[in-house]
Amino acid sequence: MRIEILNKKIGFGGIVSNIDLTKDLDKNIIKKIDNELNNLCVLVFKNQKINDEQQLKFSKYFGEIEGAGKNTTIRKSNERRLSDSFGDVSNLDVNNKPFKKTDNKRYFALGNRLWHTDASFKKVPAKYSLLSGRKVAKVGGETQFSDMRSAYDKLLESKKKQIETMVCYHSLIYSRHRLGIDMHKMMSKEEIKNFEPVKQPLVRMNNLTKRKSIFLASHIGEIEGMEKPDTILFVNDLMEHCTKDMFLYTHQWDENDLVIWDNRQSMHRGLYYDDQNEIRDVRRTTISGSEMLIAQ
Ligand code: OGA
Ligand code: MN
Repeated sequence: MRIEILNKKIGFGGIVSNIDLTKDLDKNIIKKIDNELNNLCVLVFKNQKINDEQQLKFSKYFGEIEGAGKNTTIRKSNERRLSDSFGDVSNLDVNNKPFKKTDNKRYFALGNRLWHTDASFKKVPAKYSLLSGRKVAKVGGETQFSDMRSAYDKLLESKKKQIETMVCYHSLIYSRHRLGIDMHKMMSKEEIKNFEPVKQPLVRMNNLTKRKSIFLASHIGEIEGMEKPDTILFVNDLMEHCTKDMFLYTHQWDENDLVIWDNRQSMHRGLYYDDQNEIRDVRRTTISGSEMLIAQ
């Protein structure tokens, strides 16, 4: 296994070669990958033609899989293309056809185009995500990543102090609201309960590297002790800082790329592609985090 660092200036992202993810992998190799994820946050594996079973097997080396529970999706089980262990990040319906422009499931999926970190709207937020590009867009559809440790490091000391103990409320309702989608109109009172906002600290630390990062996402809609419009502006300003060019890696997908990222210390978003005329079949497995960061 060989690793080439992508953004050398900030030590963010790496391309891993000389490894075949369809094979059984040695404990030491997994440990090395895990260690590199803590340090580089994003790892790209090229030419990994894997099927669902192989993706699941490789994912499980890093912890427990977080299934598509009822609080992550508006798809009913008979509308799902993939097993419950997968997040379907494609633009395809159960018949492998692109979602119609006005389909609620398409609207909901467009939330991935906003800067976010996976499952920060869960009490125990996700650790890693693994995204496999089974079929990728010919034009566009890149995934962008931002290094939230470097973004933290570059804050003014006064801003670091201001955010040190801030508590934010995350929910899919808030991120979808940014797109003009009213989830209250989409689902029943009973269903909406699955999307209740959860509390997360705005600053967190990686236990291995001891580096602090900003735990930011478009899922934030409230900050404790702050007025609503101030919250939105505060989040927008912080987003602007965290997504400056110097903190970014933009992944241009080739078919059979597998990208793993650390949700604890990075943000990501998908970029535009023509989802009505192209097929983009990307499949995600998510590794659960180990603990709540803050009492709910
Ligand atoms: C995801 C995600 C963005 C993309 O899989 O969690 O946000 O480019 N994907 O598909
Ligand atoms: Mn995501």
